[in-house]
Amino acid sequence: MRFLVTAGPTREPIDPVRYISNRSSGKMGYAVAEAALEAGHDVILISGQVNLAPPSNATLISVSTSDEMFDAVHQHADKCDVCVLCAAVADYKPAKVSPVKIKKLGENFSLELVPTRDILDSLGHQSDRRFLLVGFAAETNHVEENAAKKLREKNCDIIVANDVSSATSGIESDVNEVTILFRNGAPQKISRATKKIIARELLEIFSKIRNKNV
Ligand code: CTP
Repeated sequence: MRFLVTAGPTREPIDPVRYISNRSSGKMGYAVAEAALEAGHDVILISGQVNLAPPSNATLISVSTSDEMFDAVHQHADKCDVCVLCAAVADYKPAKVSPVKIKKLGENFSLELVPTRDILDSLGHQSDRRFLLVGFAAETNHVEENAAKKLREKNCDIIVANDVSSATSGIESDVNEVTILFRNGAPQKISRATKKIIARELLEIFSKIRNKNV
């Protein structure tokens, strides 16, 4: 099968030297890409800027902004069997990017932000979608409830919910603990383990469901 995986943070420029971003390390997405390669699949990895060595044998597409990630995903999704969107895409970007470095003026400063496009939502509502669509949900509270809402509203097949409130798992960490929500069927938990182990289990689940749906 062919997998498309997004990973890492996006960077939304403010001026030539500044940007808005988030703490995503890309580890979960890279672990999913590696697990898919290990299982013998082809992988297109669309990644924001991270400090990780790309898995050899993946087709790596490096992007920076949410718009670049949106375009790259839409260019490749239709030729894939499973799309797993792990990236922490910025929800907002500056309304205007200053072409020159913004100088400090010693007074309060506000930045106007506008919403970015939601990549997962755009794929979920693609009318002729044939690939299995998996999203991740980074939550700090009401984890299952919020994740179930994302599954429904973004119209994906699976949401992997991730509690990012803990200091010892989730964002930046090597370990994670997830709950998997399905379009049909009861939620399934994977208890605390390294992102590599969790990725292997996720891969088995994605492959099984994709094969059942074909
Ligand atoms: N996502 C996306 N494009 C965006 C924002 C999010 O594709 N512009 C995807 C992420 O890759 C992830 C899922 O949507 O698979 C959920 O992302 P998350 O940050 O948890 O939620 P948001 O939809 O951004 O909602 P909120 O920040 O309000 O929780």
